[in-house]
Amino acid sequence: MRFEPLRYEHLRQMAEIEKEAFDMPWTESMFIPEVNSENATYIVGTRGEEVVCYGGFHTVLDEAHITNIAVKSSDRGRGIGRFLLATLIAKAREKGARYITLEVKTTNDAAIALYKSFGFEVAGVRKRYYNNLFDAYVMWLDTEEREQHHSG
Ligand SMILES: CC(C)(COP(=O)(O)OP(=O)(O)OC[C@H]1O[C@@H](n2cnc3c(N)ncnc32)[C@H](O)[C@@H]1OP(=O)(O)O)[C@@H](O)C(=O)NCCC(=O)NCCS
Repeated sequence: MRFEPLRYEHLRQMAEIEKEAFDMPWTESMFIPEVNSENATYIVGTRGEEVVCYGGFHTVLDEAHITNIAVKSSDRGRGIGRFLLATLIAKAREKGARYITLEVKTTNDAAIALYKSFGFEVAGVRKRYYNNLFDAYVMWLDTEEREQHHSG
């Protein structure tokens, strides 16, 4: 698998992965503005022509907001999500972000465990964030605090 920047050619397969991953999937047309947006950074993991995973964020000042992160269901549980998130965090740092934030459904144990393992913390709950039905945690990572932990 290799990572490449988001291209229009990826969108159809990404929309398929969205459908298997989320109750409120993004459609192809929702991704279109992201392709050339100045404040959006997306990476797509591919194997030949096949899209395996993707993730992206929007940067505003020193904050990066992760909008999407998903791994094709047949490729989950092999470390790809971990590699994808590590790469997104590194890219967000390159773009000048210190803080990284995202929303995650409160019942999404796999994603929450992944984020916590990178040092993300729950900062709040958005009630009925998804479909006006399911709650979301707002999670935050201070990348500089994390670096301090790691350097001891
Ligand atoms: C969340 C997601 C991106 C993880 O990708 P993945 O490639 O399966 O994850 P990895 O194999 O890299 O595992 C990374 C960590 O995630 C957690 N995790 C992954 N699958 C898990 C599961 N079934 N149950 C609990 N934790 C799990 C673990 O902490 C794991 O670390 P470990 O292997 O050291 O225990 C993937 O499940 C996915 O695409 N889900 C649907 C979309 C989604 O929910 N995106 C997040 C929205 S905010």
